[in-house]
Amino acid sequence: MIYFDNNATTQIDERVLEEMLPFLKTMYGNPSSVHRLGRIAKSAIEIAREQVAALIDAPSSQIIFTSGGTEANNLALHHSNGLLAISAIEHPCVAEPASRKNAQIISVNADGLIEPETIAELIQNRPDFVSIMLANNETGVIQPITEIAAQLNEHGIVVHTDAVQAVGKIPVSFSKLGVQMLSLSSHKIYGAKGCGALVFDKSLSIQPLLLGGGQEQNRRSGTENVAAIVGFGKAAEFAKSELETRHAKMLELHLLLESELEKLPRVTIFAKNAPRLPNTTLFGIDKIEGEWVLLTLDQKGVCVSSGSACASEGQEPSPVLLAMGISPEQAKTAIRVSLSHRNTQAEVLQFIEIIKSLGV
Ligand SMILES: Cc1ncc(COP(=O)(O)O)c(C=O)c1O
Repeated sequence: MIYFDNNATTQIDERVLEEMLPFLKTMYGNPSSVHRLGRIAKSAIEIAREQVAALIDAPSSQIIFTSGGTEANNLALHHSNGLLAISAIEHPCVAEPASRKNAQIISVNADGLIEPETIAELIQNRPDFVSIMLANNETGVIQPITEIAAQLNEHGIVVHTDAVQAVGKIPVSFSKLGVQMLSLSSHKIYGAKGCGALVFDKSLSIQPLLLGGGQEQNRRSGTENVAAIVGFGKAAEFAKSELETRHAKMLELHLLLESELEKLPRVTIFAKNAPRLPNTTLFGIDKIEGEWVLLTLDQKGVCVSSGSACASEGQEPSPVLLAMGISPEQAKTAIRVSLSHRNTQAEVLQFIEIIKSLGV
């Protein structure tokens, strides 16, 4: 099998799993319990908090563990009490809660990037809160968040960034980005699913979404997923210490993949000219539906994604590509390859041969 769907999820790191297992087997205490097993669990969570904080260069006291990127994003948007604005290319877990708050949508250009003029126009409408993702899960496009946040902060506007896809692939520093909130997810960095975090600026008072036992300093109630949090911490530690080597490996494979794809006359690589993640390639084969390619590749043991969501009434083109001005017909051709440092050149070349065998 060739697994090229690492933006959907990653295979858990064996070293992470080893770290987690004792917290499922013998050290199963509830971190809120005062006895020894409880104290062991509590201190393990605090170690993980330090490890996650170190990865994104933030104080550990400003990290709230959540059930994943989805909850972190929902919690972030919950902060807005006035006019909320989000970009047109956000993940559904930002777009959906934002639509319930009648959010204003910030447009992107043909490369999938937000322009400074668009932000200047947005400021005229006086939003209280703006959410713009750091890297897009479909195209891999990286937004100039530092510049955008500086522009918005000058007007006292709170900025949140969904860094779920960026973390572990490029350096991410909460303090350097200048944002007030940032979301993370464990399973995108070789940790377990169902675990994430929201990082927040200490000037903000966080209004919890979940009320109950007052865990996470009253910011997120619910008994902590101790094993997953411990794993998240360990995954964060490796994501930090191995970032350079992982980045170099992903980039090498990415360049090989794209240089080979570009030799094929019917292939278009989307957002090719924008700064992108070192692992993500969204491409289309002229007049061939991405969904068909995906299913054909699956039969041949290759796991990729199409750039579109399957709705019961048929395949919908990706809103991300539509926002970039791509026609619905072309958007429906999209196929996403998202690599890992664990993939190999041989896999990339085998993938290219399979694509060629489709008559491209
Ligand atoms: C950009 C982005 N944000 C948020 C999420 C949601 O994260 P989780 O799966 O941890 O809820 C994803 C997952 O696909 C994502 O790609």
